[in-house]
Amino acid sequence: MDKELTIKYKEYASVDELPAVERDLLQSAVKAADGAYAPYSHFHVGAALLLKDGTVVSGANQENGAYPSGLCAERTALFAASAQRPDCRDYTALAIVGRNSEGGLCEASPCGACRQVMAEYEQLQGHGMKVVCYIAGGGARVVESVADLLPFAFEF
Ligand code: THU
Repeated sequence: MDKELTIKYKEYASVDELPAVERDLLQSAVKAADGAYAPYSHFHVGAALLLKDGTVVSGANQENGAYPSGLCAERTALFAASAQRPDCRDYTALAIVGRNSEGGLCEASPCGACRQVMAEYEQLQGHGMKVVCYIAGGGARVVESVADLLPFAFEF
């Protein structure tokens, strides 16, 4: 039987049109990109995770000379939050932005491994984690749930 999946998402032509909470979170992600250690790719990524209690935990990509040892901004934020605040493993939204070597903002859609990690925390909390990505041209894309970004996700 042929089946089809569709996903819902919102696209904003300008980040200024985002609801205030999401706009502020994306702004935190831009600031978080300052923490990137990316001497190999020169691509800086910032992530900002909004916890249910209003706390924002940020992350930035950390590279390593032994390339696979590095970690993306999204997982840096998620693992930091989970490790530091095990009492509040409930994530409302995650905002992500990239910054190139000239300092310009660019799109950074989460990689497959990050989607898998996001999916597990979302399954754990039992409700959607919003994902807010900066997109080329100064806008943003918002999905209400990680499940939309990773259909048929692995569950242990
Ligand atoms: N990177 C992230 O931090 N998040 C993403 O969603 C995609 C890629 C990082 C990994 C590496 O340090 C650099 O961007 C170039 O791939």
